Amino acid sequence: MDQKGYVIEEMLGANTLLARIKAMAAEISLHYENADHLLVVVMLRGAFVFAADLVREINLPVAMDFMEVSSYNDGMQSSRNVQVLKDVRSDISGKDVLLVEDIVDSGHTMKHVLQLLQQRQPNSLSVCTLLDKPSRREVEIQPRWRGFEIPDEFVVGYGLDYGQRHRNLPYIGKVKMHE
Ligand code: IMP
Ligand code: MG
Repeated sequence: MDQKGYVIEEMLGANTLLARIKAMAAEISLHYENADHLLVVVMLRGAFVFAADLVREINLPVAMDFMEVSSYNDGMQSSRNVQVLKDVRSDISGKDVLLVEDIVDSGHTMKHVLQLLQQRQPNSLSVCTLLDKPSRREVEIQPRWRGFEIPDEFVVGYGLDYGQRHRNLPYIGKVKMHE
C-alpha cells in the first residue's frame, strides 16, 4: 500500500495469521480446560482484531474485559510512562486472567500492567501476544503464548496502527519510510 512518505509491505498475510491463531487457541483451550473462571482481558486498542479472532477459536466459556493504557504517543517511540486510561471492570481476584496483547516491544507496557493486575490476586495471570519483538526488549517479559517473533521493524494492520491509521488492514505489514 502506498502512503505519503512511506509504503506498507505485507509481512504476514490473513491466512497465515488465522492458521497460527487457531493453533494458539487450541493450546489455550487445553491449558484452561479445568479453569472455572477464565477471564480474557483485551489490551485496547491494538489487540481488538487479534482478540476477536482468538476468542472465537477458544472452545471454553470465557468472560471478556478490556483495558487501555497509553504507551505510544502516535509515533514510533515507546514511552516508559505507562498510564492506565481505562481499567478492567471485573474483580479479577481468584480468576484465571489471560491478557491479550498485539505486540510486546520494549516490554514496559506489559511489565507495568502485569504488576498492576498481580496486586489484585488473580488465580493466574498469563500473556498471549500476537507479535513479539524480542530484540527490542528493555525489561524481562516472557509471554506464555506468542504468535510470531518478528524482527525490529515497525508494523501496522490487523489492529496495529501508525498515527492511529491502518488498524483495519486485514494483514500485518511493515512500514517502509521513503528515503
Ligand atoms: P512496549 O511497551 O515497548 O512493549 O510497547 C508495546 C506497545 O507499543 C504495543 O502494545 C503497541 O501498541 C505499541 N507498538 C510497539 N511496536 C509497535 C509496532 O511495530 N507497530 C505498532 N505499534 C507498536
Ligand atoms: Mg498496544
